[in-house]
Amino acid sequence: MSRQWIADAPSNIALIKYMGKLVATADSSRNTPTNASLSLTLDHLTTRVRVREVDGPKGSLSWSPLVLPGWDVPVISQMGQARFLKHASRCLEKLESTENRALLIESANSFPSDCGLASSASSFAALTVAMAKVSGRDVDDPAIRRRLSELSREGSGSSCRSLYTPWALWKTEGAEPVSGLPKAGQLRHLALIVDEEKKTVSSSEAHVRVTSSLLFRGRVARADERLATLLDLLKRSSGENDLHAWNQAANIVWAESWDMHALFETSDPPFGYFVPGSVQALNAIRELSSEIRNELGTNHFREPMVTMDAGPNVHVILWVDPMTESFVHRLQSKLHGRIKIIDSNQFRNSDSGKRPV
Ligand code: PMV
Repeated sequence: MSRQWIADAPSNIALIKYMGKLVATADSSRNTPTNASLSLTLDHLTTRVRVREVDGPKGSLSWSPLVLPGWDVPVISQMGQARFLKHASRCLEKLESTENRALLIESANSFPSDCGLASSASSFAALTVAMAKVSGRDVDDPAIRRRLSELSREGSGSSCRSLYTPWALWKTEGAEPVSGLPKAGQLRHLALIVDEEKKTVSSSEAHVRVTSSLLFRGRVARADERLATLLDLLKRSSGENDLHAWNQAANIVWAESWDMHALFETSDPPFGYFVPGSVQALNAIRELSSEIRNELGTNHFREPMVTMDAGPNVHVILWVDPMTESFVHRLQSKLHGRIKIIDSNQFRNSDSGKRPV
């Protein structure tokens, strides 16, 4: 009888960014970051990987989309498939798998694949966990999990953070969980989808190009300083009354996002991800925040935490309090339905990994 293994893994959004590799190369197997990064795990945006024994040449690996009701069928280029399969084979080798039948690897996303949200972090993390299951490893064992995070990093750097939730800190080899920060239920995540096109400069390419920016010189010190301050502020912001720590944390996240985008724009040659919709979304958030600040007073408003990935879409992290629902509604009306919002709240009561109803 043929066997199968299934693994799900979430996406993540970095608040302190991984941008730049120690050995500046487009070879993704050497993903050693120049600076430590911190991310919030997006448990509602997941990839499912199913691995099945199939007939075929011994030890061969192939990929195809996983078709499941309510899940999105990913479209992966030939190059993307080759990278995915290379990572699968790396995992089997490094985890000393004894599996020698032909394996079919299938994957699907719980979020629209064409919405411009990164799926490489969730895909590579899910693939790593699936291959660990194939290799007979206990993926819930903390030591194994750490090993899997290190291994996932070799496939896609930022994916190593997707092995932990709700927060992951990645210094060098693999990521680690961080305790004492706000809990998942205290936060709400919005992705403002302003452009669904595939990006013209891949993140692998961006890691190489940013090292040509003059601003890269001080980058590691800036990121390290922000990380230390942000961790401290986030720890303090969990208290019901510590709104100031949260608001300062939001400022740091904003500055860090601009730091990364400034690196892009000052590279040689420069490149960038902003489109008119990005600016429109940022302005709408700024306008709304200012309105609410005026209505409530600065001491009563937890500011939205805003960041952008290497792409045009805008990520917003909201502190859940009595204001949150009205913030989301008012933002929706300011965007006039022209910008699609993927809201973690739509997924709250559904099984993780399922599309919203
Ligand atoms: O993991 P990569 O090589 O796709 O790099 C991702 C880098 C950013 O998403 C831009 C930032 C980050 O830390 O996730």
